[in-house]
Amino acid sequence: MPDSGEHVIQIENLVKRFGNQTVLDGINLDVKAGETMVIMGGSGCGKSTLLRHMVGSLHPEEGKVRLFGEVLAEMSEEQLDDTRKKFGILFQSGALFQSLSVGDNVALILEEHTDLDAAIIDFMVKIKLELVDLREAAHKFPAQISGGMKKRAGLARALALDPKILFYDEPSAGLDPVTSAAIDRLIIDLTNKLGVASVVVTHEMDSAFAIADRMAMLHKGRVLMLDTREAFEHIRDWPFDRINELDENQQLIRQFLRGDAEGPLTEDATGDSSYAADLLGIDNSKLTGGRSIQTTRRVPMPGRTRGFFKRLISRTSHDSTKSGRDKQ
Ligand SMILES: Nc1ncnc2c1ncn2[C@@H]1O[C@H](COP(=O)(O)OP(=O)(O)O)[C@@H](O)[C@H]1O
Ligand SMILES: [Mg+2]
Repeated sequence: MPDSGEHVIQIENLVKRFGNQTVLDGINLDVKAGETMVIMGGSGCGKSTLLRHMVGSLHPEEGKVRLFGEVLAEMSEEQLDDTRKKFGILFQSGALFQSLSVGDNVALILEEHTDLDAAIIDFMVKIKLELVDLREAAHKFPAQISGGMKKRAGLARALALDPKILFYDEPSAGLDPVTSAAIDRLIIDLTNKLGVASVVVTHEMDSAFAIADRMAMLHKGRVLMLDTREAFEHIRDWPFDRINELDENQQLIRQFLRGDAEGPLTEDATGDSSYAADLLGIDNSKLTGGRSIQTTRRVPMPGRTRGFFKRLISRTSHDSTKSGRDKQ
């Protein structure tokens, strides 16, 4: 394997188009061994598509994806199979086989990919289920367990072959806050215990900040910012009265991180509303509800937000000449 330093994933100038829609437009991203990388961005911005490139289920039009130093698109079927054994994927629903018990769902992977005998496989299944705190549920079927347990079972299965990388696509989607916090803890725990790198796609900001070592923010097919969690926290917590010291991108990132869909956007929910919805990655119709769907944590906002949103929207829209000087 060529020397790739400590990187397990390296993405260079990745471009992906579906028909005439450019979904990913020159993505550069790297993931280091043992770190948790969180990929954020509004819905439809290409997070899942990016993840699919990392696991080799999609190939880029331009650019390269390297896993463990090797270019995915240049691998033979055999190499690809070997590489796939080194990572695990947790799909949104857990994607369990309904007709198999939780334990057998994990065992199946081991039976397919190893020559271990049945007694050893049994033993390994118990270890994997214990890791996700699900040993008691080994004999239950997917239909008999809760959504959170399904995710954990999916995780046990993803861990079956002792992966070096775990991929998660919206791990807390559809879970209540308590269960989703438990999944967050599990991700942190596994990263620490097993030294596995995690790539987590999420639009849940609480989750993102709880688990990330580094974060990447996608917007319009590009990486708007790639940095440590602390750097993102710095922008999230940037005081409003010094907002002008942030550049346009940083202001946009700050708004996204704080989940500020409340108030000003509701008031502005005409004309520019679809842009605002796009900005926050939310359904346009949600803008009339005045509730944030980005985060459950409310960050108190100063009273002068209206001018800020007006400026933000007018600055970044095509027609930026007329209302850019709104007073606050
Ligand atoms: N297989 C596909 N064929 C055509 N368009 C697709 C396909 N997969 C995703 N897209 C489009 O690419 C964009 C990004 O999708 P996706 O990566 O699923 O976004 P996200 O995960 O950030 O919500 C969307 O506009 C989506 O409709
Ligand atoms: Mg997605």
